[in-house]
Amino acid sequence: MSETIRKPAVLVTGANGEMGHGLIDALAESGSFSIIALDVRPLDESIKKKCTDVIIGDILETRLLERMQSEYEVHSIYHLAALLSTRAEFTPEAAHRVNVEGTLNLLKLAIEQSRWHGKPVKFMFPSSIAVYGLPDTQTKKRVGKVKESEWNYPTTMYGVNKLYCEHLGRYYAKHYRQLASDNTNSGVDFRSIRFPGLISAVTVPSGGTSDYAPEMLHAAAQGKPYSCFVREDVAIPFMAMPDAITALLKLHDAPKGKLSTAVYNIGSFSPTAGEIFAIVKRAFPGAEIKFSPDDKRQAIVDSWPADVDDSTARTDWGWKPEYDEARSFNAYLIPGIKTRYAQ
Ligand code: SER
Repeated sequence: MSETIRKPAVLVTGANGEMGHGLIDALAESGSFSIIALDVRPLDESIKKKCTDVIIGDILETRLLERMQSEYEVHSIYHLAALLSTRAEFTPEAAHRVNVEGTLNLLKLAIEQSRWHGKPVKFMFPSSIAVYGLPDTQTKKRVGKVKESEWNYPTTMYGVNKLYCEHLGRYYAKHYRQLASDNTNSGVDFRSIRFPGLISAVTVPSGGTSDYAPEMLHAAAQGKPYSCFVREDVAIPFMAMPDAITALLKLHDAPKGKLSTAVYNIGSFSPTAGEIFAIVKRAFPGAEIKFSPDDKRQAIVDSWPADVDDSTARTDWGWKPEYDEARSFNAYLIPGIKTRYAQ
């Protein structure tokens, strides 16, 4: 098929998910690309209208990806599709298929695409604080901020999958076909961010373990009672969705020569669940929130770091959160959520 009839595009997998919503809004605003959205579920109308094409299907269907190969000229892939940490524990093998084999399929698509159009394909991969595994709460308290190379002992299938896929991406970007006589570059420009728990004003996550923060907030705004599944004193890093999207776009656009690694921590604020409760209660005084920790989900959160060292991202590509804790809640989350549920 002639290249001229294939449309240059950015591919977003998991497009209907939390990050997908924010990313598609931002990509559409920049207006410079055709957006191809892929998801197993139909897309919400609000983002569907911003996409050039929408494909409903599974990233494990190789035929679907082959069809995409023939129809589009893909220059960037934001591979957001994944089964999150809590959900993955119920079906670990299925999670492995989606999170690992799905990623492998997309990496293969990237290689093939680059072969056709002759330019690198940027492969943006959201990883997670779930790749870390601290052995106990004393250690968690003692170490504070963790660097990318430390404590890479995930306790969840999701964390294991994300950590492995970071390596897979690095392998395809740097070492693919290393023994071939024509060991040409794969054309995959793999870039990954380990995201903290994300909180959005417009969507609620499903199946994650950091979900207690957004769930508490969204329940309070709707006047629904909420029972928080972790202890008040537990802390992990969180981030407002707009910062997460900005980070993805910023790393995507960073000059390759400036990137000293394939995988970056980014941080913003690290509240305890009790601090989130206090903020939510101030904004929604009638909120009915109680703490009834689920020991097993609590243990997962206990294994995640209290904070991350993001100095490499700051140095290499100028990462800096625009929303600290106060601004996240006061300027984005609380007003955004009030508007959302007033509709
Ligand atoms: N927030 C995700 C989860 O809880 C981790 O990346 O699964």
